[in-house]
Amino acid sequence: MATVPAVKQFSDRVNRIEISATMAVVAEAAKLKAGGADLVEFGAGEPHFATPQHIKDAAIHAINNDCTKYTAVAGVQDLRNALVRRHAVDLGSMYQPHECMVSTGGKLALFNAIQVLVDHGDEVIVPVPYWVSFKDIIEYAGGKCVFVETAESDNFRLTPEMIERQITPRTRAMIINSPNNPSGAVLDPADFSAILRMAHKRGIYVIADECYVYLNFTPRRFSAGSVMDVKQHLVIIGSLSKTYAMTGWRLGYALAPAPIIGAMTKLQSQSTSSTAHMVQMAGLAAVTGPQDCVDKMKKDYVLLGELILGHLKLIPGITCVKPEGAFYVYPNISGLLGRGGVNTPAEFAKRLLHEAHLATVPGEGFGTHEHVRISYATRQSELDRGIERLRSFVSSL
Ligand SMILES: Cc1ncc(COP(=O)(O)O)c(C=O)c1O
Repeated sequence: MATVPAVKQFSDRVNRIEISATMAVVAEAAKLKAGGADLVEFGAGEPHFATPQHIKDAAIHAINNDCTKYTAVAGVQDLRNALVRRHAVDLGSMYQPHECMVSTGGKLALFNAIQVLVDHGDEVIVPVPYWVSFKDIIEYAGGKCVFVETAESDNFRLTPEMIERQITPRTRAMIINSPNNPSGAVLDPADFSAILRMAHKRGIYVIADECYVYLNFTPRRFSAGSVMDVKQHLVIIGSLSKTYAMTGWRLGYALAPAPIIGAMTKLQSQSTSSTAHMVQMAGLAAVTGPQDCVDKMKKDYVLLGELILGHLKLIPGITCVKPEGAFYVYPNISGLLGRGGVNTPAEFAKRLLHEAHLATVPGEGFGTHEHVRISYATRQSELDRGIERLRSFVSSL
């Protein structure tokens, strides 16, 4: 019988990447839930708040007014106008609407930016811990991640010197995410400005992931966009997901020089085309409507963060740095590894999910080996239930 030659099933580029660690947890948790488990979810990074009513109403109104067709790939003009205005007013930037592109989530804006800037063999500097998708999106583009370790003992602080040490002739870009997912670290504005100027001087692009820019708990909210003289090498990634509790709507944007926006729009024209029209109209209502919902939600996150930190401190074997933004804590569980057959954060998170029905994300997906990420964007009663489960799981080890 003739033998069938072995055929490669998938492309090299898709074989280079893995499924997002957070999405994997969400899928595993959903399976347990479908089987009837009463889960507490500290896994997915999404607000527990409902999308504010005026935003929902705008989408319903848009549907009833037939905003149900394709739009321009980069988004409807009114929304692009409103996004750059909101950014200028709140964060001190100065972009024109043609320097703004709307995407199906900040994640797609980031994906597009990396695909148009990074070529095979290009190096991209990524501070650790990093958001799960940075590494795989860069590798999908053929780029090489150059990791910069930050020290937990220094609150995961990133400095210009740390970055400078990793620059080589192949460095094409760096991704700076502040406030940071998963650590909650917020980059000092002076350090951030110095990083931007250093990169600009050398012709290196900074991709500033500012999806949590409104969830900055320090006294000074800061966007890279306020540093005007580096604009030529800056791409800002923004998102309405966390700011307005709109994760499922899939609405994000990029701000960048017109040629970069043009290239990203060309790429998007060959993939998703425009974001859904009614979603864009909901986004328009979000950024032009009352903003008190943003501050109200932020106040709740601050409170929840303090609560969970207080609880974690009381669990023997766990230490935790105080976050300065976003809605995550990144506890160090090294004091528990080696106990009860648990040797890695991945094993810890897996057993915590299956034995205690508490979903968290293991640190390996964020580039560290002693942590789990907890999203505390949840109701206080859920937070209490989750902490109780964590406490009793830890004492069972
Ligand atoms: C750091 C960071 N960047 C980007 C995103 C993407 O957000 P979205 O695609 O929902 O706008 C997320 C979502 O969790 C994130 O944590």
